[in-house]
Amino acid sequence: MLLKIEDLECRIGSTNILRSCSLELDKSQVVCLLGRNGAGKSSILKSIIGLYPAGNGKISYENQDITNLSPHQRVIAGIAYAPEDSKLFADLTVEQNIQLGFWVTSKTVRAASIDFETVFHFFPRIRSMVKRKADTLSGGEKKMVSISRALALSPKLVLLDEPFEGLSPVVVKTFSAAIENIKQELGISVLLAESNVHNASQVAEKCYIIERGQIIFEGPPSSILENEQILRLVGR
Ligand SMILES: Nc1ncnc2c1ncn2[C@@H]1O[C@H](COP(=O)(O)OP(=O)(O)OP(=O)(O)O)[C@@H](O)[C@H]1O
Ligand SMILES: [Mg+2]
Repeated sequence: MLLKIEDLECRIGSTNILRSCSLELDKSQVVCLLGRNGAGKSSILKSIIGLYPAGNGKISYENQDITNLSPHQRVIAGIAYAPEDSKLFADLTVEQNIQLGFWVTSKTVRAASIDFETVFHFFPRIRSMVKRKADTLSGGEKKMVSISRALALSPKLVLLDEPFEGLSPVVVKTFSAAIENIKQELGISVLLAESNVHNASQVAEKCYIIERGQIIFEGPPSSILENEQILRLVGR
């Protein structure tokens, strides 16, 4: 087991954003958090990377309790995060944005970091863009750079928040293939947030459906696609 979350709660102000969420993810596994807008997908990812506090519950990574570690310590431990809106630095080049990840972390991570050739292998389009400023990229290209920045940390687990959002069906296929290759060739596990079950089914082995801060269903994508009641819950 690479990641195990037990009864996680997250409270911000007077709102219970996450209630008793539990999930498990194995090494080299792609798992999807599926849910409608505002369900709590991003909040779970932010809790795992340490940006949101865990009020209650436990997050274990490689059998170590990481619930109280800082985001920085979690990155050192091998967890990388590509946020929903890519969060690139507009005035920096693509190359600098990708390098940022290891500039801000320790020597150990930097030494283990994958090189640009590996990044280009998964996202060949980036090769010709390395000297361009990030704000000249399209939305899909920004997503590629954001995922590449996460990969450059040489993580064991990557958290991808809505990597397919705004992409055309053809590009969704390209991204799904890249995620599959990242898993197969680097042995990296991926936990992604997604609102479309058909996109999820292209890439995930297991899905957790989240609704109003609670996990209400767990199973392979096929079990969702075959279940009218559950399908209605995810809105397709
Ligand atoms: N920092 C915060 N302060 C107050 N409320 C928050 C905060 N972060 C999230 N929430 C609330 O928690 C709920 C879940 O938000 P979250 O961003 O996790 O949803 P999501 O499933 O990622 O949605 P989307 O598909 O729109 O990205 C929403 O109602 C949101 O307004
Ligand atoms: Mg979100």
